[in-house]
Amino acid sequence: MDSILRCEQITASYGAKTVLRDVTLRVPRGRILGLVGSSGSGKSTLARVITGLLAPAAGKLYYDGRELSPRRTPDERRNIQMVFQNPDGSFNPRKKVGTILGDVLLFHHRTDRAHLRQECGRLLERVGLAEGDLERYPLSFSGGQRQRIALARAMAAGPKLLILDEPTSALDVSVQRKILDLIRSLQQEQKLTLLFITHDLGIVYDICDDVAVLDEGRICEVTPSEEFFRSPRSARGALLLDSVPRIPEIAGDGALSIRPEQMGQEERHEDQMPEQKWAGGTA
Ligand SMILES: Nc1ncnc2c1ncn2[C@@H]1O[C@H](COP(=O)(O)OP(=O)(O)OP(=O)(O)O)[C@@H](O)[C@H]1O
Ligand SMILES: [Mg+2]
Repeated sequence: MDSILRCEQITASYGAKTVLRDVTLRVPRGRILGLVGSSGSGKSTLARVITGLLAPAAGKLYYDGRELSPRRTPDERRNIQMVFQNPDGSFNPRKKVGTILGDVLLFHHRTDRAHLRQECGRLLERVGLAEGDLERYPLSFSGGQRQRIALARAMAAGPKLLILDEPTSALDVSVQRKILDLIRSLQQEQKLTLLFITHDLGIVYDICDDVAVLDEGRICEVTPSEEFFRSPRSARGALLLDSVPRIPEIAGDGALSIRPEQMGQEERHEDQMPEQKWAGGTA
């Protein structure tokens, strides 16, 4: 399969503490790869290595078949963008949204000053906010709106590969759904490749084409989603699935179908239903 990014035997550490060990992973182009694993397994660290924020202690990264050096060119930075696990910490609270987006557009030569305002407005509208919001400061928005701004900022660079680190974990279920819909439509429209980090297997079930499982800094399986939810290949994958409550689904007209995002809102009928579907939950 055509990979946009390859990690070859990546090892990464914080001081004396080794967090990633021999991570080899291919990110298939144009698809959504879910990266799951327990808290502390190294998911965010791998994201930092891929975006160039953390230099690996060993191993190599290839983007489009070309090796990425630790000092990325602006073009290499543009191609791989990230939405952080905690977007609030990534905003300068003294910069208006218009400046935040404008800086990225100008840095990557995505527009000139004459069209800057218009381009910023277009970006903001694409993520469901209004042009007038360019004048506001990030912390004056709700959590869901801030996540939209973080998405707009990442999209401002014009990336090919977007890494989303738990982009909806701090949001309530209904907002989560809207942000996921937005992510999915951006992915299709811009033909993006996504690396979607989450501990929520309901989301993986919903939107990911493939699942990679990280266990204490090692990749223990990469499996097409459909197969993963039927029969994970690794013990850690099976354990993650076992820790998620199952909910039923019956196919056909008038059937009961509880989608993962409705978990906790619907009554369960486990013992009556023949078929089971994976629900969202904390892995
Ligand atoms: N800046 C840092 N300095 C030292 N250790 C760190 C640092 N960041 C993360 N770690 C440690 O590295 C390990 C992996 O952390 P990482 O944040 O990559 O995990 P994660 O899989 O993203 O977890 P979570 O699901 O909780 O976000 C953890 O043991 C963590 O404590
Ligand atoms: Mg993390």
